[in-house]
Amino acid sequence: MLIKKTVTISSSEITSREVYQQRRRFLREAGALAVAGVGTTLLPAPGEAGQKFPNLRKSPYSLDEKTTSYRDITSYNNFYEFGSGKSDPSERAGNFRTFPWSVAIEGDVKKPAVYQMEDLLKHHPLEERVYRLRCVEAWSMVVPWVGFPLRDLIRRVEPTSRAKYVEFTTLLDPAQMPGQRPGLLGAGLDWPYVEGLRLDEAMHPLTLLAVGLYGEVLPNQNGAPIRLVVPWKYGFKSIKSIVKIRFVEKQPLTTWVRANSREYGFYSNVNPAVDHPRWSQASERRIGEDSLFSPKRKTLPFNGYADQVASLYAGMDLKKYF
Ligand code: MTE
Repeated sequence: MLIKKTVTISSSEITSREVYQQRRRFLREAGALAVAGVGTTLLPAPGEAGQKFPNLRKSPYSLDEKTTSYRDITSYNNFYEFGSGKSDPSERAGNFRTFPWSVAIEGDVKKPAVYQMEDLLKHHPLEERVYRLRCVEAWSMVVPWVGFPLRDLIRRVEPTSRAKYVEFTTLLDPAQMPGQRPGLLGAGLDWPYVEGLRLDEAMHPLTLLAVGLYGEVLPNQNGAPIRLVVPWKYGFKSIKSIVKIRFVEKQPLTTWVRANSREYGFYSNVNPAVDHPRWSQASERRIGEDSLFSPKRKTLPFNGYADQVASLYAGMDLKKYF
C-alpha cells in the first residue's frame, strides 16, 4: 500500500469461476500424478480450498450487487506475508498449510480458550454475505463471503468489563511466509500483522469472521483458514489467517499505523471526504469492471454502510480519527 499501483483487466481476460476451477483442479491433479506416478484422484482434505460448504443460508446483511469474478477475487490480492505484488499471494501461497489450525482467545475474557478450526466451525452456523470491499488503494470488489458474525464468538468467550478493544494477529511463520523474511518482499512491515477494532465495532452484526468465498473454503491467498471482514473500513483492517484474538484495555498498535501513522489511521473508516495524503479517496475503480479510462465510481461514506454504522462514531471528528 505504500506505493499505489493500478492495473487494467479487460473483460476478455475474465475467466468464469467454473472454468478457472476446472483448470486449477486439472493442474493440481496433473501435478500430483506427475509426482506420484499413479492415477489417483485428489480428495479434498480438511482445510483445502475448493471444498464446498453445505447448506449455506444467505444472510439478510447480504448486498444485492453483482459479485466480482472468482478469478479476480483470488488473483488480485494484498497479503504482504507472500509479497507486495498483487499476484504474489496467488502465486506463492499455494502450499501454505492451513490445517491443523487453531485460534487462541486471550486477554480480558472470562473464558480464554484455544479453538481448533473444526470446533469453531461446529459451534457457528455459516452463512453467505455479499459485501463490498474497498481497499485504501482506491479499488473495490464485491465478494460473496462465507462466515459467521464475530460477535457470536465474542459472546461465547465473555469479555470482562476491562476489555475495550480487540486485537487480531496473523500467523508468524517466515518459513512459510516469504514476505516475513528479511528483505524487500514484505515491504518492510513489522511481523506478525496486527489489526484491531473497538469492542463495539467488533460486536457490530456486520463484522464477520470469514472462512470461505463463493460457497467454498477460502483460498490461501484470501486469508485461509479464517480472516476478518469489516465492510465499512478500508480493506487493510480485514486481517487474514488469524491465530490470535486478544481482548485488551488499550487501543492496539496496528501494523499499518506502526508503518506510517500519517497515512493510515486506527479507525480506517471508508471516508470520501478524507484523502490519503498521496491520493484522493473520493472515488474508486471496481476490479474487473472499470478500466483506467472509464469514469470512476464515487466512494460512499462508510463504504455504503452508513445507515448501519454511522452511530458508532456519533460526536467523533472523523478527520482527526481517520
Ligand atoms: N492481512 C494480512 N495478514 N496481511 C496483509 O497484507 N492485507 C490487507 C487485508 N488483510 C493484508 C491482510 C489489505 S491491504 C487488503 S485490501 C485485504 O486484506 C485484501 O483482501 P483480499 O486479498 O481477500 O481481497
